[in-house]
Amino acid sequence: MSKKILLSGVKPTGRPHIGNYFGAMKQFADLQNDYECYFMIADYHALNHIQNANDMKENIFGVALDYLAIGLDPEKVTIFKQSDVSAHTELAWMFDSITTMPYLMRAHAFKDAEAKNKEISVGTFNYPMLMAADILLYDTDVVPVGQDQKQHIEITRDTAEKFNHTFGADVFKLPNPLIVEGVATVPGIDGQKMSKSYNNTIPLFATDEEIEKQVMSIVTDSSGGRPENVYAIHKLFRAEAELASLYEEKKGKYKDLKEALIEDIKAFIAPLRARREALAADPSAVERILVDGAARANIRASAKLADAKRAIGVL
Ligand code: ADP
Ligand code: TRP
Repeated sequence: MSKKILLSGVKPTGRPHIGNYFGAMKQFADLQNDYECYFMIADYHALNHIQNANDMKENIFGVALDYLAIGLDPEKVTIFKQSDVSAHTELAWMFDSITTMPYLMRAHAFKDAEAKNKEISVGTFNYPMLMAADILLYDTDVVPVGQDQKQHIEITRDTAEKFNHTFGADVFKLPNPLIVEGVATVPGIDGQKMSKSYNNTIPLFATDEEIEKQVMSIVTDSSGGRPENVYAIHKLFRAEAELASLYEEKKGKYKDLKEALIEDIKAFIAPLRARREALAADPSAVERILVDGAARANIRASAKLADAKRAIGVL
């Protein structure tokens, strides 16, 4: 029996953090042997924020290194750039045409931007349509993501159903999100959701100095013996059964607990950082992986795009 299909993506918008890792990227590595996997660098999605060619190039190379450094094996999985597979933007146009504005105006990301009175780009508004295309082109069964992407997967399912229904053809398969309980929303050093845009992250490939600085800045309240924001991050790195005795012994000693957390994070990140540095020394090897990935992704995506074109009557 052939394997089920898994697809996910990360935008090249800056350094990944431990929230991205535990919430999504760790699952990519853990599941790579069980599924036929596609891992995308969502560069066209990033274009809403990154509007400088050098930054874009650097960030794309960065996500490729991140993927390889966390252990994705390019011999087994397909790693590719969204912009290398033009079927994504073509299919997104078809979805734009069958989706109404009021429907997309219900998306959280749009509502948040509106609430902040931000001027949002058409690309940001249509973001879920491109994401639906990313997923549906590959007959994807599962999409490992953090909780914040749940609505995007729901929109993807709605869009697949709408297309199939409108054109009376069974072209797209409905995907399921894979959101792991306990790490669905990793908190940042201020206790809010960890996010590149909130300045509250611990970078996944942080230096020792950055780890020390960020952990020492974790916001603690003095109400109980256990600093909850420290504990919430600590349990990502050590089993709760082990933490119970440590937090009992060091009750109320926030500085000692932060120092213990620093040691655990350093031990976890050091080998990842070393691997990433080694990979960065050979950019042409990374380039070859992306060229090869694009070729593989294109085969699958172009076949599905042709099905969609036939369904709408342009082919
Ligand atoms: P950010 O919100 O930091 O910009 P991205 O949008 O690049 O992160 O997200 C990449 C992946 O990481 C997505 O699957 C997203 O759901 C997941 N993710 C982001 N932040 C968190 C978090 N704090 N906890 C769990 N998963 C997260
Ligand atoms: N929207 C996702 C994020 O912000 C990135 C993404 C783009 C994605 N296309 C995707 C994730 C397809 C999963 C599947 O993190």
